[in-house]
Amino acid sequence: MSHAEDHEGTRRDFLYYATAGAGAVTAGAAIWPLVNQMNPSADVQALSSIRVDVSGVEVGTQITVKWLGKPVFIRRRTQDEIDAANAVEISELPDPDARNNNLNPGAEATDINRGLLPPGAEAGTDSEWLVMMGVCTHLGCVPLGDGAGEFGGWFCPCHGSHYDTAGRIRKGPAPENLHVPVSVFEDANTIKLG
Ligand code: FES
Repeated sequence: MSHAEDHEGTRRDFLYYATAGAGAVTAGAAIWPLVNQMNPSADVQALSSIRVDVSGVEVGTQITVKWLGKPVFIRRRTQDEIDAANAVEISELPDPDARNNNLNPGAEATDINRGLLPPGAEAGTDSEWLVMMGVCTHLGCVPLGDGAGEFGGWFCPCHGSHYDTAGRIRKGPAPENLHVPVSVFEDANTIKLG
């Protein structure tokens, strides 16, 4: 199979929907973990990495893709969202760890340490791109996105966990920030997960 064919197959299989993505996640918010545990898809489980075409993701929108049987949020943030995240002191965060699998353990949960830099971007700068596991760190529900919750980021309705515009837990029972998976921009339009 050529690279191009593989790429197309990945897009077809995993790119669920673009923009206004929270609606589709909303419907299954509470039941996804249960269904996923009971009925894991063998073909999905077998794929340790996937490529996602993000060329259609506009600023201020997000998509949700499925990877290893779990939802992954890919959001292209507005400058206001980035500024809001940067306005928060690390000492204010319930979880000061970046929870970013692309960084060394213990990296601080700054906005820079949460974002994913596109090609050509200078290291150590803010990124509009945020890639996170769509799994609440409390008991595994799928949080609602697109500015949900008291901090304009994500909200988990199961027990009321509020995440900010960098996906960091700010209020509620969830103990950790939403996890950032191993991910990289392969080119300007493609994010590789895993
Ligand atoms: S599973 Fe998200 S708040 Fe409990």
